[in-house]
Amino acid sequence: MRVLVTGGAGFIGANFVLRTLQQRPDVQITVLDKLTYAANPATLEPVADRIDLVKGDIADADLVDSLIAATDVVVHFAAESHNDNSLADPSSFVHTNLVGTFALLEAVRRHDVRYHHISTDEVYGDLDLDDPARFTEATAYNPSSPYSSTKAGSDLLVRAWVRSFGLRATISNCSNNYGPYQHIEKFIPRQITNVLSGVRPRLYGDGLNVRDWIHVDDHNDAVWTIIERGQIGETYLIGADGEVNNRTVVETILELLDQPADAFDFVTDRPGHDRRYAIDSTRLRTELGWRPQYVDFRAGLSATIDWYRDHPDWWQPHKQAVEQTYATTEKVIG
Ligand code: NAD
Ligand code: DAU
Repeated sequence: MRVLVTGGAGFIGANFVLRTLQQRPDVQITVLDKLTYAANPATLEPVADRIDLVKGDIADADLVDSLIAATDVVVHFAAESHNDNSLADPSSFVHTNLVGTFALLEAVRRHDVRYHHISTDEVYGDLDLDDPARFTEATAYNPSSPYSSTKAGSDLLVRAWVRSFGLRATISNCSNNYGPYQHIEKFIPRQITNVLSGVRPRLYGDGLNVRDWIHVDDHNDAVWTIIERGQIGETYLIGADGEVNNRTVVETILELLDQPADAFDFVTDRPGHDRRYAIDSTRLRTELGWRPQYVDFRAGLSATIDWYRDHPDWWQPHKQAVEQTYATTEKVIG
């Protein structure tokens, strides 16, 4: 099977490539990645002779057409993925998440190729802390940020291409991922690498926002489950019952790194900050038989801390620039 992985040099895509090479030796992988700031080519260096890595933009229709003509399955991870960046400048989010997805869909349509679209729970907006509800496949779209609205738009393009043109596509909407190779602009690796660098972790607002954490390997196993057993045209929510508030995550990181539990700062909140996400993944579990392997968040977090501690060469060269960018907007409030 020939698989084209867009965004395969980023966090989730690279973990997908590495795990697929380990577990499915029959799969031939081509990665299409623009190698933006979010990519770290070092992640794929150890497998460079086992994949084709094409540097390019998913919105480049000619390039995309030639690659898709020679593939059996497209797994579309490529995106601008960080909410804070989308608030500072949304233009690349519209380009990549909407125009880029459009280019892929048109090529997939021309060549009748199986397509799996990676998306996010953020398309559903947010929930109150005391709301017993969780997101399901039937929840109405209600995105809040430039990032999540462009992801929602890309999902709707896929649905329209399925209905109008009979595209052989599936969609998955996953909750917050953690694990190795995540860019240090994101919450968990930012706080781990802060503590490892002697800097205090930073909590937005009151720190009570809730995210529903899932290990990246569980996400990627679910993606393969959907590619192999998912029903064409359908959407599956991926989540591992991992709801935790941000303050608890920071306190756990501090404890696991032998620091005082209150050694963090509150900083200015993210504008429009979604309060809570929560996924009900019953459909994926009952219809397709997927189960998460990482059910102990603390253990998964501890392994992730070990990974960042053991791989300073992977993240240290980028730490100063990331923190300088945050420093332009962030103020300590408590
Ligand atoms: P990431 O930012 O770590 O990686 C994105 C990758 O896409 C990078 O390698 C980047 O170079 C590449 N890319 C960006 N623009 C491109 C373009 N125009 N053409 C080709 N490549 C381009 O993102 P991630 O966290 O790995 O997320 C991957 C996907 O999963 C995204 O679609 C995201 O919306 C979705 N998702 C992420 C999470 C999460 O918690 N991180 C949760 C649910 C869904
Ligand atoms: O829910 C899935 C989404 O999860 C994905 O679609 C996105 O691509 C991914 O980036 C992530 O979005 P979030 O905005 O939830 O993730 P982030 O890591 O930016 O922030 C997680 C929470 O932590 C959020 O409530 C904001 C907060 N935060 C973040 C940073 C960077 C802090 O309190 N301090 C920080 O320094």
